[in-house]
Amino acid sequence: MHERALTDFRAGDRSAVVRNLALAFGATHESIESWMEFAGFDNLRVLRDGERPAACLLQIAMGQYFGGVSVPMLGVAGVAVAPEDRGRGHARALMHAFVPEAAAAGWPLAGLYASTHTLYRGVGFEHAGYRFRHTIPFAQLAARETRGRVVPLADDDRPEVRACHAAFGALHDGALDRGPYIWHRIHKFRGVEYLGFGARDDDGRLAGYLYLHQSQRSLGVFDILLSDLAFTEAWAGRRLIEFLANFAMAGVDLVFHGGPTHPLFELLPQQRQRSELLDSWLLRIVDVPRALAARGYSPAVHADVHLDVDDPLVPANHGRFVLRVQGGQAVVEPGGRGDLRTTARGLACMYSGYATPAQAAVLGLVSGEPAVLRAAAGVFAGGTPWMSDMF
Ligand SMILES: CC(C)(COP(=O)(O)OP(=O)(O)OC[C@H]1O[C@@H](n2cnc3c(N)ncnc32)[C@H](O)[C@@H]1OP(=O)(O)O)[C@@H](O)C(=O)NCCC(=O)NCCS
Repeated sequence: MHERALTDFRAGDRSAVVRNLALAFGATHESIESWMEFAGFDNLRVLRDGERPAACLLQIAMGQYFGGVSVPMLGVAGVAVAPEDRGRGHARALMHAFVPEAAAAGWPLAGLYASTHTLYRGVGFEHAGYRFRHTIPFAQLAARETRGRVVPLADDDRPEVRACHAAFGALHDGALDRGPYIWHRIHKFRGVEYLGFGARDDDGRLAGYLYLHQSQRSLGVFDILLSDLAFTEAWAGRRLIEFLANFAMAGVDLVFHGGPTHPLFELLPQQRQRSELLDSWLLRIVDVPRALAARGYSPAVHADVHLDVDDPLVPANHGRFVLRVQGGQAVVEPGGRGDLRTTARGLACMYSGYATPAQAAVLGLVSGEPAVLRAAAGVFAGGTPWMSDMF
């Protein structure tokens, strides 16, 4: 075994990395090439075994909303090791090097979808939110609305779409504050174009939108898949439902992604959707003080949480901190009593609201007196964390 090190992608790595990604995800070399063209080969980190690229991952710069505020989050995708090289600790070495590197680069959070949880839990990632697939038969879609109208969206409308998404995302813990990589996938995913439609009020203001693709079942009969759906006012949600309902003569199912629930359901006359949990995504608190200070909190909370964080992988995170929350914001100071003892994994699921401190304690990720756990639950309280995007 040679010495292993995490490095930039080099032009000479291209064929090996494309091959490893193709074999990892059962894809063609061409589709991996086009994926990496828009993701950017420069966003690959490569673990070298001597000179040879042994493992790679793709970094995706974005943000994630917690407590109404976008916190910078480094997404991880495309973790791959050649099949003949697996089981030798390359992926573990890759992730062990990646987490401190992301911390040194100033990222508060990292996030990913995992095929094997043990690998990522071993470096402090933990389940932190949901992604469900919802299916609604078109026969169940009905709404009436007189305000505003639905119009096709053009490329020029994208800044308004992004502003609408930001307003919607800030209301939903866990929603991505998307960068170009995710937005690209909203408009076009695996060669399929998605058409945008927006709900505008009588002054032309955009208050909701969706991106749809008609997926044919047989000639003239289709499902509609949404790559994105957001609205910030109820009339706009109703307008979008009404618009979709007009596809009912040939539409079978409407399919989109979200959390265990979705505001669209609340505007329907009946709840006949089928919801399937596809994944729980994972979060890593990469920089503890930065992550705690960056998110939003309820302005009703005025509290100090004395944390004792166990994080052997990132020395700057390891130890005691006081989280002082007031007026919807927090400052973090070193020291304190360490009343709430937590691993990096425990902090991740409390931070997102996926688990309360007492629930995380049952899993052995957190410990403290019952009153400490209850008080901390109030500090981290928010909505059920979810995201509609996959990366
Ligand atoms: C997943 C993958 C990256 C692991 O690479 P690897 O170098 O073989 O993994 P390592 O030898 O470093 O093992 C690290 C840990 O991963 C877990 N792991 C690895 N292979 C696994 C498997 N086939 N099934 C379940 N867990 C596995 C184990 O927990 C292991 O730790 P342990 O040996 O201490 O139990 C590799 O199998 C791969 O490229 N798979 C296809 C693509 C993929 O699934 N990528 C992940 C997308 S998020």
